[in-house]
Amino acid sequence: MNARTDAPAAAESGAKATDKFLHKQVTADSSPERVSAILEDTLAALFEVIRKHQVTYAEYDLLKSWLIQVGEDGEWPLWLDVFVEHEIEDVNTAHRHGSKGSIEGPYYVPGAPELPAECTMPMRPDEKGTALLWRGQVRSVNGSALGGAVVELWHADDDGYYSQFAEGMGIPQWNLRGTIVTDEEGRFAIGTVQPSPYAIPTDGATGQMCLAAGWSPFRPAHLHVKVHAPGHEELTAQLYFQGGEHTENDIAKAVKPELILSPTPRADGQGKEIQYDFVLDPQ
Ligand code: DHB
Ligand code: FE
Repeated sequence: MNARTDAPAAAESGAKATDKFLHKQVTADSSPERVSAILEDTLAALFEVIRKHQVTYAEYDLLKSWLIQVGEDGEWPLWLDVFVEHEIEDVNTAHRHGSKGSIEGPYYVPGAPELPAECTMPMRPDEKGTALLWRGQVRSVNGSALGGAVVELWHADDDGYYSQFAEGMGIPQWNLRGTIVTDEEGRFAIGTVQPSPYAIPTDGATGQMCLAAGWSPFRPAHLHVKVHAPGHEELTAQLYFQGGEHTENDIAKAVKPELILSPTPRADGQGKEIQYDFVLDPQ
């Protein structure tokens, strides 16, 4: 992995994530009673922290200026997805019997190029990194194959950057992003490259908070997916690599044991391969 000396400024990647998020339709039909209950409990939890740690006026002012800075850096989607989303994800998928999910994170973009069941991800001719062949199948919890199920795959490159969120790096728009349509047996075979760990940009307010607390700003290397099939709940997940750096101390707390892959060397010597299937819950 490269040292990130040429890292794009946080204001760029964070602001990009805010731009993308603002295009999403956001509504929730929460009643005033529910809004009141959630807000009251949130504030009560905060008051408890203030009392427990005897938070000073200087720290209170620092909090105010830091909150303003997160907004100015456009990093609210980034901050929330690192520190809060894992709990939301866990609560909202607890009823499932199929595959485990994980957080979406701030770097999903809908509408990536459609690819057949056997495909190679869009990548540069000289794309760096270990080649990775991923074979899998999408099934329902009753075991039936879900032919025509769709696997949206997106991930960072060998330097830990996502296309569309690393301005000035010359990464093509849909690099390492694809929408794969499985065959009639729900199977797929995708050629890609192994991603590198991702670091929260340390020049933005989120990264500064990590540094101030002495926390590592890294996430382990991961593949993002959204899997969907008619009549089934959409699965959002991330897959990690056995023994990979930061897998034990993910800043986003989004690693689950069921999501860790163990790639094996390919017989033809062309990189590594993995087998990982998805099981979807009926709606
Ligand atoms: C963040 C980045 C990711 O790649 C991810 O999967 C989750 C969160 C983030 O910077 O917020
Ligand atoms: Fe990610």
